[in-house]
Amino acid sequence: MFISETPFEEIEYLYYNVPIEEIIKKATQVCDKTYGNKVYLRGLIEFSNICFMDCKYCGIRRSNTKVERYRMSEVDILATIASGIEVGLKTFVLQSGENAYRALELASLVEKIKSKWSDIAVTLSCGYFKKEELKILKKAGVDRYLFRFEVADENLYSFLKNGEKLSKRLEMLNNLKELDFETGSGFMVGLPGETDEILLKNLRLCRDFQFDMVGIGPFIPHPDTPLKDARQFSIERTIKVTALLRLTLPYANIPATTAAGTLDPSGREKMLKAGANVLMPNITPPLNKKKYLLYPEKICIDESGLECIGCMSLRVKSVGKVLSFERGDSISYVK
Ligand code: 5AD
Ligand code: FES
Repeated sequence: MFISETPFEEIEYLYYNVPIEEIIKKATQVCDKTYGNKVYLRGLIEFSNICFMDCKYCGIRRSNTKVERYRMSEVDILATIASGIEVGLKTFVLQSGENAYRALELASLVEKIKSKWSDIAVTLSCGYFKKEELKILKKAGVDRYLFRFEVADENLYSFLKNGEKLSKRLEMLNNLKELDFETGSGFMVGLPGETDEILLKNLRLCRDFQFDMVGIGPFIPHPDTPLKDARQFSIERTIKVTALLRLTLPYANIPATTAAGTLDPSGREKMLKAGANVLMPNITPPLNKKKYLLYPEKICIDESGLECIGCMSLRVKSVGKVLSFERGDSISYVK
């Protein structure tokens, strides 16, 4: 049975007028019908924290000189994937700071990965590439690409990104879709300056682009950034947005994110109960993990990826779901 998306006027109505518990109930019903009780796993490898951007919210921004920068070698990346495959993972997200790698370097890495393990899904999250470069990545075997738009309001976007235009980011997202990548995006919840209208604009943009995957999480002020004194919204705001997102895009893959688990010890469980259906165990080698702090007090940096999978298995059970070791392509993409 096809589950249709909730009209946007209704999303707005729900946001302003309906108690969060009821919105969550609706979202759970939708998620039950689309993804059932399955929670897909993605092995996250933060293979470099070098970043050429200077976003005001981010702990690894270029001008944060306190960060000790690293780049994992190809050998170490392949070994990390091998360890993930050993425990049953079939999807890997290779994430780095933005614009730190050339397309050809990444293409050669992905070709090596795919020649060793042809059946896994490889997701990149490495910042901007021109359309021609994206074609090279696609040809090399990249299946999915994550590129959050961060906030759908032009002015707030430009402020946070030092004058960069939102349209530039959206152009890249259009290119990803045109080239038939399984396309993921997303935004932060509770950025300074975020109004109710902006929050709804974020959801509307997700609907307009029909993203296959949408990652959201609470903004958490980092002490070594210009936004260190910003207010912190409670986790409930993120949970409400998660539920509205599931109603907006019934078939999207939506992760219960580490940022939610950082702000609230049961933040990820709350997201799963509100319509999220993906978890991303961080399998980055522990020495590097500790240097990839986008926000403070990030969880899971002392645990190995393997420990996280064990821990996650218990956590999903507590909300009546089960971990799934399938590739977990987004139904919206497959359709
Ligand atoms: N708090 C929460 N999330 C953050 N990100 C970056 N900095 C922060 C922060 N301080 C998010 C951004 C980015 C993703 C990898 O992490 O949305 O795209
Ligand atoms: Fe990482 Fe629980 S998921 S320690």
